[in-house]
Amino acid sequence: MPQFRRFRETVSIMPKKTLPPGLAARLLRSAKKATKHAYAPYSKFRVGAAILLSNGKIFSGCNVENASYGMTNCAERTAIFAAVAALGPKLEIRAVSVVNDHGVPCSPCGACRQVIYEFGPDATILFQSATGPKQAHITELLPEGFRLQ
Ligand code: THU
Repeated sequence: MPQFRRFRETVSIMPKKTLPPGLAARLLRSAKKATKHAYAPYSKFRVGAAILLSNGKIFSGCNVENASYGMTNCAERTAIFAAVAALGPKLEIRAVSVVNDHGVPCSPCGACRQVIYEFGPDATILFQSATGPKQAHITELLPEGFRLQ
């Protein structure tokens, strides 16, 4: 059944949920705006992220670097922590967008994927891939994310 296998392969690489184009554009605009606030004196790589919550609210964040490099906070986590600080922990992330000021491919790092998964196990991630703009389900980027039972 080669044809059926091809169909299954095609389906498995499609994101489980795509954002309506208008909403995706809004989320990308918020992320782009957030790059302006980045504190990136070491890498000179400004990143902005925006998260869409299930209540429709959008929060954004930028990367915040540190002279002790490992203390750097990525844009995605800044956005998520801002949302939790503003609304409390009962929130659900529907989508995350990531943008950088170099226009180069950039998907959320491993640590951010795990943090996104905590609040958005069904989230759609919008980012620049090596082949262009892409939407992927969080579980495609982070298979078997960790959950404390
Ligand atoms: N960075 C982000 O903010 N988000 C990503 O998805 C990838 C990397 C930041 C961390 C650091 O400040 C700079 O980009 C270079 O790694």
